[in-house]
Amino acid sequence: MQQILITGGAGYIGSHTAVALVNAGYEPIIVDNFSNSNQDVLAGLEKILGKKVKHYEGDCNDREFMHGVFKENSLKGVIHFAASKAVGESTQIPLTYYSNNINSLIVLLETMKTFGVKDIVFSSSCTVYGQPDELPVKESTPRKDAESPYGNTKKICEDILTDHVKSGAAARVVALRYFNPIGAHPSSLIGELPLGVPANLVPFVTQTGAGIREKITVFGDDYDTPDGTCIRDYIHVMDLADAHVKSIQYLENQQDTFFDLFNVGTGNGNSVMEVVKVFEKVSGKTLNYEIGPRRSGDIEKVWANTDKVSKVLGWTPQFGLEEALRDAWNWQVSLEK
Ligand SMILES: NC(=O)c1ccc[n+]([C@@H]2O[C@H](COP(=O)([O-])OP(=O)(O)OC[C@H]3O[C@@H](n4cnc5c(N)ncnc54)[C@H](O)[C@@H]3O)[C@@H](O)[C@H]2O)c1
Repeated sequence: MQQILITGGAGYIGSHTAVALVNAGYEPIIVDNFSNSNQDVLAGLEKILGKKVKHYEGDCNDREFMHGVFKENSLKGVIHFAASKAVGESTQIPLTYYSNNINSLIVLLETMKTFGVKDIVFSSSCTVYGQPDELPVKESTPRKDAESPYGNTKKICEDILTDHVKSGAAARVVALRYFNPIGAHPSSLIGELPLGVPANLVPFVTQTGAGIREKITVFGDDYDTPDGTCIRDYIHVMDLADAHVKSIQYLENQQDTFFDLFNVGTGNGNSVMEVVKVFEKVSGKTLNYEIGPRRSGDIEKVWANTDKVSKVLGWTPQFGLEEALRDAWNWQVSLEK
């Protein structure tokens, strides 16, 4: 079985990708410093898979530690999820974000070079588009100035990867620009586990449904959208996980020096109010919500053009918003038990 290193593999998207990799016949090797995740995730993962998952506790910025991991395994490739990801927090502690997100990529690329590991899939984000001038947004749509230090780290990391490949390095790179991942594994054994108050809409919605939060605030209902609330492209995390497997397989057939990038979204936009309504339908709960002022830095509307990912990677999403919200809700219910 080919081994794939998953940095940040105990996190939300990484843990679901570990399941998808095993289902596709790979052996995931997880590295995580548990700065934004919990050891319990590994237990859930092992229950789904019915076997142990090899994992290391450590920091991707720690070169010696990373060398140890590469020495002990014969890695075929790497999926690099490890990063700090809270947009709001990144405006408070920008240096932590620049240091963690950028340095970890550099240490990783240098370690890959030392050990002759070529393939890497990188977690980028639709945040690099800002508010795009055309919708749905294509990979060729120009990126905008970042709205936050977090967003800037994603742009800079994309540039580092492009420059690395341009230099002729033996590196095969896919950057995936995720839209808005939501939902959980249908078993409800793993899912999104925000520490503290969730920064994303769906965990806030499910926690409000569960009575943990009193109400949700919808930030602005006077945007230029059909119901006035912001529009995003919500993608089921298992579909997103699958896009990583497809990317790893795609890289296997490329030349030694290679870069490509893809949008990973459904191609559909849903407003905040649509999410609230669909959640109420699938959960049978009535959500307490209020309309508040716009939140600074929020993009009005964005959704993906998915022609490239579907044509080149042969990837199409299997789940819709209802299924994703159902799985997110079942996960929330399982957490309460
Ligand atoms: N969730 C989203 O909405 C979203 C959207 C676009 C892009 N992304 C990107 O996808 C990736 C994964 O996101 P997620 O939602 O799974 O986040 P997450 O916080 O759940 O997972 C990231 C994991 O990386 C670990 N980590 C962080 N820094 C580390 C380090 N230096 N060394 C080792 N481990 C470290 C954390 O403990 C965590 O388990 C991130 O790069 C994020 O920026 C996420």
